[in-house]
Amino acid sequence: MIAAGTVMPPALAPPPTPTPSPSLTPGIPGFAPRFPGVTLERLQAWLPTIITAAVVLVAVVVALAVLSRLLRWKAPRVHWYLIGFPLLRLRMRHSWRHLCLNASLTGTDRPTTGQLGPLLVKGRPIMPVLPLLRRIRPRTFGATAVILLHPGQIPEPFVNAAEAMAHAWGVHAVRVDARLRGRVRLTILTADRLISEGTEPVTWETGPLPRQRAVTSHPSDAIEAITPAAAVPADLAAEVGQREDGQRWVIDLVTFPHWLITGATQSGKSTLINAAVARWAARPVALVGIDCKGGMELAPHAPRLSALATGRAEAADILAALVVETQRRMGLCRQHGARNIWQLPPEVRPVPVVVIVDELAELYLVASRADKDEALRATTHLLRLAQLGAALGVHVIVAGQRVGSDLGPGVTALRAQLAGRICLRVNDEETVDMTLGDLYPDAVEAAQQIDPAVKGIAVTTADEAGWIRARSVYLSPEQLAAVIAATAYLAPVLPGLTPPAA
Ligand SMILES: Nc1ncnc2c1ncn2[C@@H]1O[C@H](COP(=O)(O)OP(=O)(O)O)[C@@H](O)[C@H]1O
Ligand SMILES: [Mg+2]
Repeated sequence: MIAAGTVMPPALAPPPTPTPSPSLTPGIPGFAPRFPGVTLERLQAWLPTIITAAVVLVAVVVALAVLSRLLRWKAPRVHWYLIGFPLLRLRMRHSWRHLCLNASLTGTDRPTTGQLGPLLVKGRPIMPVLPLLRRIRPRTFGATAVILLHPGQIPEPFVNAAEAMAHAWGVHAVRVDARLRGRVRLTILTADRLISEGTEPVTWETGPLPRQRAVTSHPSDAIEAITPAAAVPADLAAEVGQREDGQRWVIDLVTFPHWLITGATQSGKSTLINAAVARWAARPVALVGIDCKGGMELAPHAPRLSALATGRAEAADILAALVVETQRRMGLCRQHGARNIWQLPPEVRPVPVVVIVDELAELYLVASRADKDEALRATTHLLRLAQLGAALGVHVIVAGQRVGSDLGPGVTALRAQLAGRICLRVNDEETVDMTLGDLYPDAVEAAQQIDPAVKGIAVTTADEAGWIRARSVYLSPEQLAAVIAATAYLAPVLPGLTPPAA
């Protein structure tokens, strides 16, 4: 209460009652104080302009949306670079802080212990520091970016947050490459290209085979012609399909000398092997087949093979001869002071050998005691080749449905030698784990999600990306037969081995 006689401070004086604008028509109460100067007459005068502007604005927005749709349909790449990527980038920048906070990706530049009175307290400092999101670049498949880690941060939380990033940015998947020091590389995939391009098989191009050599000699001289034309490392890179990042899927025996391919029946193991063989067939590479299912799978390759085993005893003999050959190569390298066959002079360089084992279990699983010795002999030689062959141009590609230790005691040792891994669709988690889990734990989930409806999809090791999804090309039996027939005369003769009878 205000005592009588005291002067009321001006701040407490009752506010003057607003005098209504004389021109304001009663019926629009409260309009004038908020928009002084706006009178109904003026509003009426502006109305057509306002309506026209709104219509034009809506028309422009609709036109832009239609244009964007049209561009996306007619020229998806242009659409991506002009509209899609800038929007994604905006979204990434905008959500980065929230994403880091929610997925615990933040670092700190404060000490985690401090003194509180007489106490030493430990805790997580508030005021987190965000890792830097840099170099967001458009790519045909989506985008790439780099995250710079703060000292003390490790890549693992970023690997685990890949799915959170994909959700936050509304993209198909984010692959996190954690092998660089101090940074993490992101590969952002906007769509599942392996599937979006249809469930149709990726077809084998019928154009010239890469690095196909003009061999001018008569086919009967082929062995003489091919053996001196020494192979080069590039000959060992077989392009077998397409990766989800739009690059070509290459099985390169220089990067990974030996490969393991796992997949359930009908998942695409043999198709993948066909694609690789069709590439190597045109180059100075010797191919040896081990197919203990009676040669059912590898028989179509026979004319181009330097040897083919259709039973376990035969396999043991062929593998034994290859071990001897490997030891001969070792002597050759020693003699020339070379550490691998690529350092040898081209005129003495032996031809690279690729040993293909289709269905590993057939080699290991035994029914009788007599089988057991044979199996042991074959598998011991195979392991020996994998242990010694890498530098000596002897490579092993092993395909199977399972690679568990239930096959035999040597399987784990063999698996350890096979650094290149390809996991097609498999039925059990254990096989995925054995194929990828020891090297790429974060790839296991991707392999488990392979859609059985789309054949030939795999998760594969890739040199610079760690692992990636990919899909093999499909060669029809006729296409494969044509490639094999055209290249059969290039099959080198290997010491101690007889080519399969035609
Ligand atoms: N990359 C692919 N594209 C299209 N179809 C494929 C592909 N890979 C496999 N297939 C289809 O799946 C079938 C089974 O493949 P296959 O290679 O024989 O499997 P596996 O050897 O694992 O039993 C093939 O006959 C083929 O029709
Ligand atoms: Mg098969």
